[in-house]
Amino acid sequence: MAAADMLKREAPDSLMLTGFWYRALPSEKVNHGQLQKAMLLEIPLVIGRDRNRKAFALRDACPHRGMPLSCGRFEGGQVECSYHGWKFDAASGQCRLIPSLTADQNLKTDRIYAGSFACEERDSFIWVFIPDLGPAGAGFTRRDEPLTAAPQVPAFSEKFNTAYLSSNMPSTVDHGIIGLMDPAHGPFVHQAWWWRSQHSIHEKQKHFEPIPNGFRMSAHTPSSNSAPYKLLRLYAEADSITTTIDFVLPNLRLETIRAGKYWFSSLTTVTPITRDHCRIDVVACWNIFRFVPFGPSLLKFVFAKFVEQDRRTMELQSEGLKHNPHLMLIEDADRPAKWYFGLKTAYLEAKRTGAEMKHPMSGPVTLKWRS
Ligand code: FES
Ligand SMILES: [Fe+2]
Repeated sequence: MAAADMLKREAPDSLMLTGFWYRALPSEKVNHGQLQKAMLLEIPLVIGRDRNRKAFALRDACPHRGMPLSCGRFEGGQVECSYHGWKFDAASGQCRLIPSLTADQNLKTDRIYAGSFACEERDSFIWVFIPDLGPAGAGFTRRDEPLTAAPQVPAFSEKFNTAYLSSNMPSTVDHGIIGLMDPAHGPFVHQAWWWRSQHSIHEKQKHFEPIPNGFRMSAHTPSSNSAPYKLLRLYAEADSITTTIDFVLPNLRLETIRAGKYWFSSLTTVTPITRDHCRIDVVACWNIFRFVPFGPSLLKFVFAKFVEQDRRTMELQSEGLKHNPHLMLIEDADRPAKWYFGLKTAYLEAKRTGAEMKHPMSGPVTLKWRS
């Protein structure tokens, strides 16, 4: 079936990819001394920060009898469980104290660990690394450190503005991601006076190339009916504006727009919270509008509208998906979605066999669609 492939129903365990960094919470939600709950890939987490503001993440279940550690308290770099008062080092999860032990009982408390996850802070978010193997460290092992650093929004000048927004979506991470890379819904979902109308639909041609773990929409002049393009034209010659969009596993969409010395970049992630819920977080950085009083809030307003339109659409779509209908992916507009599924399959296959990951694209490709 060349023109339309049936969208296979993904096995639940292939829905949420382990071995990657994920955005857990906005930085501003976590203050010193507080314990915040979060969930990633159906793993309950408790997140806090120490005296030096360094963030930590533990599995939100005490290794003794499962009490959520978020019900306990955080003091002196240690989290105390509210049930029997065991204390754990916040950074490593290592047990420091079991109050019920008597002086002659020699249980080695330092061999016990609460599940602990590597944590990094980037661009207004706390990122947590979800490793491949089960509940990280819970029980008697210390965690392994990730080999890569958490992703970051690229910046091209010293001074710039930054803003983020988040939206919870009642859909699987796969629908969230293919919705994000889908060019054909724009004129129907994102209609607005400042954006575009159905009448502005025209044929487009975009070049794509494979990159490690993903694909790139090669640098091109943004389409004349896109909002950032309209704004940037106030600053630069139309033909000096280029945009590049990367998608990288597991869930990263990176867009960079350059126009002479002005730039705008954003890193959007679709994070699996549970099997059927995801969250979209957009962090944008830019140096246009820096001196315009309402610039940043205007930009945030435009983005919020945009994301809300997607959220509303996915809410409605989830009604239709409840009864597991057959779905399809068509040429060429849904080809990026096919690459996404191809990348996931290749990643899982490489992990299973230990062989090198086989990229689903063999080279550059030009796609055409109307939007
Ligand atoms: S359940 Fe946490 S100390 Fe017992
Ligand atoms: Fe959208």
